[in-house]
Amino acid sequence: MGLHRWWQVTLVIVSLFLSSLVDGSQTYYDHESLDAFLCKQANKEIKSPRTGVFYNVSLPCNFTGMEISVVRLRSVSLWLRGMNYSFFSLPPRIVPRPNEKRIAILFENLGNWSSHYYNVPNYTMVAPAFGVMAYRSSKSALIDRKINFTIQGDPIIIRFPHVEQNRKNDTPICAKFSAGGLVKFKNMTRPYFCEAHSQGHYTLVVPSFPSPKEPQSKRFNTRWVLGFVIGFVGLVILVLILLALVKEAKRRRIRKMERNSSVGELFDTFWIGETKLPLASTIRTQPILENEDANH
Ligand SMILES: *[C@@H]1O[C@H](CO)[C@@H](O)[C@H](O)[C@H]1NC(C)=O
Ligand SMILES: *[C@@H]1O[C@H](CO)[C@@H](O)[C@H](O)[C@H]1NC(C)=O
Ligand SMILES: *[C@@H]1O[C@H](CO)[C@@H](O)[C@H](O)[C@H]1NC(C)=O
Ligand SMILES: *[C@@H]1O[C@H](CO)[C@@H](O)[C@H](O)[C@H]1NC(C)=O
Ligand SMILES: *[C@@H]1O[C@H](CO)[C@@H](O)[C@H](O)[C@H]1NC(C)=O
Ligand SMILES: *[C@@H]1O[C@H](CO)[C@@H](O)[C@H](O)[C@H]1NC(C)=O
Repeated sequence: MGLHRWWQVTLVIVSLFLSSLVDGSQTYYDHESLDAFLCKQANKEIKSPRTGVFYNVSLPCNFTGMEISVVRLRSVSLWLRGMNYSFFSLPPRIVPRPNEKRIAILFENLGNWSSHYYNVPNYTMVAPAFGVMAYRSSKSALIDRKINFTIQGDPIIIRFPHVEQNRKNDTPICAKFSAGGLVKFKNMTRPYFCEAHSQGHYTLVVPSFPSPKEPQSKRFNTRWVLGFVIGFVGLVILVLILLALVKEAKRRRIRKMERNSSVGELFDTFWIGETKLPLASTIRTQPILENEDANH
């Protein structure tokens, strides 16, 4: 009985421990579906936009913290004049690929959502992820499919907000998130200025502390494994101690009963469980009682 209950308690402890491990992991969202969602949102919010005018895309409240703007323009205008907006500077001589007459550009600041959608293994992001995304713009839909840029002149410049240099004075490095989870690095051209040679998402990173050589995920894994092993060993020891205590208590109870029953023979009493009963001196019930005690 007692043993059974202890196993139940142990099981509950172990499952609580495991569920706390699972809850501790960070969730990542799919940035591909974010792109698709932002497109849809831009189309939904902005009906028949004027060419060359920037519109803020309004987002559902569960995306608070992101800032998305959209502009529609003629390719020829982009090629001739380029475009400046917020943190982005698009110089002249950018050609959409495939060449479309009209395009739409989404300027994205993912703000405090950046690290939920993008991460750079072995590095820490020190700036939000900024995106410059080009889309074909047809008559039926404001935006429909992604297109690329070909840059024939100067590159696009992305100006990041200054980050406080908290430790080690690491110089941030520009990072570009490419398709398939690849990250490309480039040195800043000036402090907090990154060059971009294509559309996509960019950020600034510094090598992760303590050492860029040790992969972050591995450090986390070893910490988890260590924690798990220590926790498990502790649990096993706890269970062993509890089992020993239960066993000891049982043995002591049996010994006590044996002693009581031998005394009971003298004083004409016997025990059923913990109740002392008078015993007729003529009835020899002792062996049966001993069996009963052992089953308890
Ligand atoms: C768009 O949003 C930014 C920042 O939230 C704001 O400064 C700007 O005035 C807005 N523009 C328009 C056209 O509403
Ligand atoms: C935000 O809410 C929309 C529905 O309004 C849902 O489709 C979307 O997945 C939610 N996004 C997040 C990050 O919770
Ligand atoms: C980002 O900040 C806004 C408030 O400025 C908050 O409502 C939102 O939940 C935050 N998002 C995340 C992912 O922390
Ligand atoms: C963008 O800004 C640069 C200077 O930062 C300027 O030389 C250029 O003319 C601007 N382009 C447009 C289209 O305003
Ligand atoms: C960045 O500059 C450093 C020197 O300051 C150089 O050693 C490194 O190779 C450069 N990295 C890239 C990606 O160009
Ligand atoms: C992190 O750095 C280590 C050591 O330089 C390397 O073996 C590992 O592949 C890196 N991780 C990623 C995802 O690049």
